[in-house]
Amino acid sequence: MYAFQLKKDLQSYLNPSKKHNTTVGLVPTMGALHQGHLALVSRALEENTIVVVSIFVNPAQFNKAEDLNKYPKTLAKDLELLEALSDRIVVFNPEVSEMYPKGSKGNSYDFGGLEKVMEGEFRPGHFEGVGTIVEALLKLVLPDRAYFGEKDFQQLQIVRKMVSLKKITTQIVGCPIVREPHGLAMSSRNERLSASTRVAASFIYETLVAAKEAFRSKSASSVIQWVKKRFESHSLFTLEYIDIRTVKYLKPVKRKHKNGSYRAFIAVYADGVRLIDNIAL
Ligand code: PAJ
Repeated sequence: MYAFQLKKDLQSYLNPSKKHNTTVGLVPTMGALHQGHLALVSRALEENTIVVVSIFVNPAQFNKAEDLNKYPKTLAKDLELLEALSDRIVVFNPEVSEMYPKGSKGNSYDFGGLEKVMEGEFRPGHFEGVGTIVEALLKLVLPDRAYFGEKDFQQLQIVRKMVSLKKITTQIVGCPIVREPHGLAMSSRNERLSASTRVAASFIYETLVAAKEAFRSKSASSVIQWVKKRFESHSLFTLEYIDIRTVKYLKPVKRKHKNGSYRAFIAVYADGVRLIDNIAL
């Protein structure tokens, strides 16, 4: 399996193959790969001839140096997992200086407010950083399709918006959330939870499932209040936000519409680790 660190090496590998009717899929990641990432790669392998997996911990999207420094790095294991999956995978794992020769500051974008709520409110500058790296990767790889998880649903919608703003023709494919057996959404951050908290954290998904059920007959605001109360009485977890929003523009729900599409979003601290999850309602 090839692993390139330089843009020019990746491009010279991809350029000749693009001429022969091959299709290219891109799966951007920050490494510390788990089954959630691998599900994206498998889907990309089904739909494309070559799959580029980028492994790059993007400094521009971290608003806290501590979070960036603590981000797990397991490159050797990541490469083994990908190697075992298919010989049609190419890895791109550049150094920071290769992606940000002039310093890792994010570009500004007009995401139309999508970037200001939820993750954007609690992580200022985060989505500018995500937009910047994803735009750079799309322009480098020029993939037919790029794959993103619904685990980071707001990110997925922001990438869709960025691609339309920049007139990038890559198809953006959203993939379902992969969960641990107890229901916790898989995340590289789960490794930082104690074994018991990791099991107890199924409470987050259970709450989302119960909120989905309640939303059938109750208003968004009463479901939000109910979730807040449920977390007040749970000593292991600190709720950062619970929100119910429209799917496309992530607007708050004042009144439910019969044919509306809504999602509940949640961010919770457990053992000092920030966990996010969401569910279609
Ligand atoms: P990272 O957190 O490594 O996630 C890479 C991709 O895997 C994202 O599209 C994310 O939504 C998806 N993913 C993570 N956990 C998942 C799960 N449990 N089920 C389904 N998909 C899951 O997201 C990023 O990196 C970065 O912001 C990135 C897009 C790479 C830009 O730096």
